[in-house]
Amino acid sequence: MRIDDALTWAKFLLVTSDSALLDAQILLAHVLEKETVYLMTWPERDLSVEQKVAFEALIEQRINGVPVAYLTGIREFWSLPLKVNDSTLIPRPDTEILVETALACCSPQSSILDLGTGTGAIILALASELPNTQCFAVDFNHDAVKLAIENATSLNINNVTFKQSNWFENVEGMFDVIVSNPPYIDENDHHLNEGDVRFEPLSALVATENGLSDIRLIATQAQRYLNENGSLMIEHGFEQGVSVREIFASLAYHNIKTIKDYGDNDRITIATYSAAPHAPISPTHKEIK
Ligand SMILES: C[S@@+](CC[C@H](N)C(=O)[O-])C[C@H]1O[C@@H](n2cnc3c(N)ncnc32)[C@H](O)[C@@H]1O
Repeated sequence: MRIDDALTWAKFLLVTSDSALLDAQILLAHVLEKETVYLMTWPERDLSVEQKVAFEALIEQRINGVPVAYLTGIREFWSLPLKVNDSTLIPRPDTEILVETALACCSPQSSILDLGTGTGAIILALASELPNTQCFAVDFNHDAVKLAIENATSLNINNVTFKQSNWFENVEGMFDVIVSNPPYIDENDHHLNEGDVRFEPLSALVATENGLSDIRLIATQAQRYLNENGSLMIEHGFEQGVSVREIFASLAYHNIKTIKDYGDNDRITIATYSAAPHAPISPTHKEIK
């Protein structure tokens, strides 16, 4: 079978995917161990029997909904190729906004903590940009911690310490910036039955109290780990901006702002911690375009 015929065949079968051709290209390039541009350059080249069998097996799994990133074992985030597996979430492009937001708050010497690090996506992106910072990251899932360490090693990023921890339980020290993309989906949310999310672990996705319990816990406990005027920034659901701002405002945070994602939805709320009393400031909503 030729490359172009293999792609046409796969695209036809992947009717349920809204990115059928792209999925097929990524999977075929993975089988051939080439970049996708190779497929466009050599459409007439034939697959070997082994390549054809391997491609058909991947397409069959993709038809059943398995995420492309779990099939290839790789997802790019902040231009870093990260290993992924089903112990944790596949990093999402919108989370890069959390990285951009954190970079704007960090100095080259900042100490940074990432809670629920998963593949290590957020903290490895920050550490790659700020090689002199002291970075620390935790996840309660041992396999996720192992994966994040593997990613740091293969990317040769050496300024992050990873630890297994139930949120702050095994965290020591004080931080200038705390970031987190915690579980925030309500257990009854219909999105849990759609797309890639069906294959990701619920422990990375679901939180009680309409998805807000982990965010509330992190915001509350972070007060003991943030330096004066340190920053807390948390990714959340597109309908949770108001609730997250209220949680922050009920604690020792000020300058509370919500930032929108690439789809123009509320996505990240950021605030400054100060133990000193402040005049009440109403939480604001800021759009970054
Ligand atoms: C939404 S995923 C985010 C993963 C990664 N930070 C990212 O943005 O791609 C949430 C992560 O929080 C971790 N997690 C869930 N409960 C936790 C807890 N109690 N303590 C620490 N990590 C937790 C999950 O294992 C998962 O890796």
